[in-house]
Amino acid sequence: MSDTDDGDLYFVQGLLGPMQNFVYLIGSKRTRECLIVDPAWDTDALLSVAAGDDMRVVGALVTHYHPDHVGGAMGAFAVPGGITDLLAKAPGPVHVNKLEADGLQKITGVSESDLVRHENDDIVALGDVSIRLLHTPGHTPGSQCFLVRDRLVAGDTLFIDGCGRVDLPGGNASQLTESLRRLAALPDHVMLCPGHDYGDVPTASIAEQRSSNGALVSALRSAPK
Ligand SMILES: [Fe+2]
Repeated sequence: MSDTDDGDLYFVQGLLGPMQNFVYLIGSKRTRECLIVDPAWDTDALLSVAAGDDMRVVGALVTHYHPDHVGGAMGAFAVPGGITDLLAKAPGPVHVNKLEADGLQKITGVSESDLVRHENDDIVALGDVSIRLLHTPGHTPGSQCFLVRDRLVAGDTLFIDGCGRVDLPGGNASQLTESLRRLAALPDHVMLCPGHDYGDVPTASIAEQRSSNGALVSALRSAPK
């Protein structure tokens, strides 16, 4: 895992688990607080990264409710070290899109009192660091991405040279196309930070992805709704 140098922004991208999940820690170096994006597989490892950087974990951001991102179980597919494990060790609010909250509770067993149900374009702030929550349905109904300064944490909505599946329960191809169009409209220099390490590189600019990512190319060619 590696930290980045952007003033008071604390931003770490880490790789965890057998499904090549990217996990992120985002926070403020001034207040020494951070949130974990999609805690799963190994919360002790995530908490030790934060502790090693003298950062306090004060909650979590959820891109969507699939177990490889939040732990818990969906049928026979079970993943350790998720949201409930994190909350037992580091209590704090779990920020989730309002359309994903019921699914998150069903998959993980997290309590309603631990959830903050968000709307599109809500802001979560730590110190001077503002994280904008973009509702990007398609992979799941309440999928959301996180825009913090020039970084886009995109969950399973947009990957390097790919995009999320729409064949799982709640998936919707036309919604995903609209979400991809929205992300493609972000400024050129925004860096895509995906939810899985499926590409040749861990991050890439939106400008690069607009030309190299076939999913974005075809979304941009389709007629807007
Ligand atoms: Fe997913």
